[in-house]
Amino acid sequence: MLREIYARRVFPWLLDRMLGHDEIGRLRRETLQAAGGRTLEIGFGTGLNLPHFPTTVTELTIIDSELMLEQLVAARIADSPVPVNRLQLDAQGRLPFTDNSFDCVVTTFTLCSIGNLASALGEIRRILKPEAPFIFLEHGRSDLPTLAAWQDRLNPLQQIVGVGCHLNRRIDQLVSSNGFTIDQLDRFNLPGAPRLIGSMYRGTARRR
Ligand SMILES: C[S@@+](CC[C@H](N)C(=O)[O-])C[C@H]1O[C@@H](n2cnc3c(N)ncnc32)[C@H](O)[C@@H]1O
Repeated sequence: MLREIYARRVFPWLLDRMLGHDEIGRLRRETLQAAGGRTLEIGFGTGLNLPHFPTTVTELTIIDSELMLEQLVAARIADSPVPVNRLQLDAQGRLPFTDNSFDCVVTTFTLCSIGNLASALGEIRRILKPEAPFIFLEHGRSDLPTLAAWQDRLNPLQQIVGVGCHLNRRIDQLVSSNGFTIDQLDRFNLPGAPRLIGSMYRGTARRR
């Protein structure tokens, strides 16, 4: 009961505050420059990416398994520079999109939270056109062994506090072992974030 109240009422506000600061906004904008055409964003959360999509995106579908901060999200959709189609969908299941139908798929701070990531990556692979980019901006496992060991220790707690978020996922390995070739990968620490949660993986991948 308490966990439910936290997940539905408190966590969305925390998320919006933590992931909504200007420095992350700049990263979002830079990262999304590579998006274009018919684009799908998985795990759109509170819609913090919406102002940052370039107008080369002709049609934007955004999906999330949860509905968060409805009024705020509706206002962000109304202000979006590109047309938005919003759906409540779980990315672990079969998505209602045909094979090879998107020019681009985007996830930001989301691959940490999807339970069955192999299944979601399989769906991304299925719906992306050949050669189309899968763009990701994610946090995950540190390359520093001591820090990674702490991420392993604290992961069970983080899954409660972060409502399913894993601290210790090796994002690049998970993407490539699920049928993608990574064309570009940046590793850096998220400015202003504790290193436990700020070990970033930003990249683009194509289906193999
Ligand atoms: C940490 S939030 C990030 C939100 C947003 N992408 C951002 O950058 O601000 C993770 C989001 O992934 C969504 N999510 C988690 N599992 C999901 C799933 N199986 N299918 C769709 N969305 C999911 C959550 O509901 C949440 O909105």
